[in-house]
Amino acid sequence: GPPISKICCIGAGYVGGPTMSVIALKCPEVQVTIVDVSKERISQWNSDKLPIYEPGLEEIVKKCRGKNLFFSTDAKKAIQEAEIIFISVNTPTKTSGNGKGRAADLKHVEGCARLIAGIATSCKIVVEKSTVPVKAAESIMQVLKANNKQGVRYSILSNPEFLAEGTAIENLINPDRVLIGGEETPEGQKAIETLCWIYNKWIPKEKILTTNTWSSELSKLAANAMLAQRISSINSLSAVCEATGADVSEVGRAIGLDSRIGSKFLQASVGFGGSCFQKDLLNLVYICEKLNLPEVAQYWQKVIDMNEYQKTRFSQKIIECLFNTVSEKRLTIFGFAFKKNTGDTRETPAITVCKNLLDEGAKLNIYDPKVEKSQIIADLTSTRVTDNPEEVKKSIEIFTDPYDAVVGTHAIVICTEWDEFIEMDYDRIYKLMIKPAYLFDGRKIVNHEELQNVGFHVITIGKKLNRPGLMRSVGSISQQ
Ligand code: NAD
Ligand code: UDX
Repeated sequence: GPPISKICCIGAGYVGGPTMSVIALKCPEVQVTIVDVSKERISQWNSDKLPIYEPGLEEIVKKCRGKNLFFSTDAKKAIQEAEIIFISVNTPTKTSGNGKGRAADLKHVEGCARLIAGIATSCKIVVEKSTVPVKAAESIMQVLKANNKQGVRYSILSNPEFLAEGTAIENLINPDRVLIGGEETPEGQKAIETLCWIYNKWIPKEKILTTNTWSSELSKLAANAMLAQRISSINSLSAVCEATGADVSEVGRAIGLDSRIGSKFLQASVGFGGSCFQKDLLNLVYICEKLNLPEVAQYWQKVIDMNEYQKTRFSQKIIECLFNTVSEKRLTIFGFAFKKNTGDTRETPAITVCKNLLDEGAKLNIYDPKVEKSQIIADLTSTRVTDNPEEVKKSIEIFTDPYDAVVGTHAIVICTEWDEFIEMDYDRIYKLMIKPAYLFDGRKIVNHEELQNVGFHVITIGKKLNRPGLMRSVGSISQQ
């Protein structure tokens, strides 16, 4: 029979949910159970409205759920039965204590290790799917061994996840590579082989990379650090472009054609967001400091600093262009998610932009096609944004129709690159707005020349637009 009949995954989040759904789809003979402490999340996974939006996910869940894919709060049963247990819980930045604001908080991972040790009565392969600091596997092993029952042995593998939100299913079905780190002992190698058997059901062997545990753990942090670094690099150049008349899109194209540099991930923007880049960079910075490598720590810290600078620079530009005051002005925010095709708002640059505008006394009409109204309100009334949540609630309005959101506003601020913002009827929108009407394109997605012809003042990232806007809008008034 197959070497594996049952898998358990602890953590039914953005990673656990999609990853296990694809394993269930590709390994029909394996029973996959995802468990979570959150009853609400599990009941959402078992309902018609899944807790996360990801293109293609719903189809897979509907196909496999109840057959070989199960969502449950009964961790005990699932852990006891499984031969492989994935740990896919959140590893947020610590908010207090040692390493506050930088170190990864491993309390949930440690909690999983204790849970497994308390329940397991047979040998288990424990897979670190969560992103963790280098050497985390050692801590997990210590917890498991210290609570060991007789005859129960554990192998720990590092198997970091590289999916990006919005394209998770695509990334999982056709990954650039799968990385598995394990011990160089016969037992470790056997565990690696077992996990390989799962992935090899749909991923060719050449794409499955095996390394030692520490290389695997560090590679995850390194990949995210390098990706984020590219964005901060191009964003730093966008400031140079705005000051000189160079166009960052042209610069990006020109350098991206160098095969050594490559063309992806060179899109200048309002700044990167998402639950991973900042958290993992901070984690890396903290590790470097602990290892007494301050120069290395400072190097990666700059990637975060540049991102903060970019978000603030964009917000400042909005305020400056609106005659240096947005107090009592109503502005439209187009897009709140941290990128398109997701409803996720963790570390979204839209929060920073909204905060800066609210601090200046602006009123905001916010529209996003996928983010829940309650999420936007929760984000903008959190203690990180304001100490006066009631005031914020009075200053924001959330819309479900973008055309309603622009009525009587001075400006549109594009914070997320949703496709629908490209194709909207900007003639109609222009007519609904207060003049002069401004559009700030934080994602470089709309046709700036066309919008200027409509009458908008258009301001974007990494390109100084000449400003026929004012003349044209005067012209269009005299035509009426
Ligand atoms: P998430 O917050 O969406 O999901 C984590 C889930 O784990 C939550 O539902 C939580 O209730 C549950 N949980 C926490 N402790 C638990 C416990 N002891 N027992 C049972 N359930 C528990 O997080 P996520 O975005 O899925 O990220 C998970 C990990 O994967 C993180 O380490 C993250 O860095 C990493 N990662 C995330 C992404 C991404 O795009 N989101 C990509 C690659 C890697
Ligand atoms: C990232 C990594 O890509 C993924 O491999 C890892 O597993 C998790 O972290 P994610 O954060 O989901 O994935 O999305 P990603 O596509 O990397 O975008 C992150 C942020 O960078 C978004 O806010 C996005 O808009 C921004 N970005 C991306 C840019 O501003 N410019 C770019 O060229 C690319």
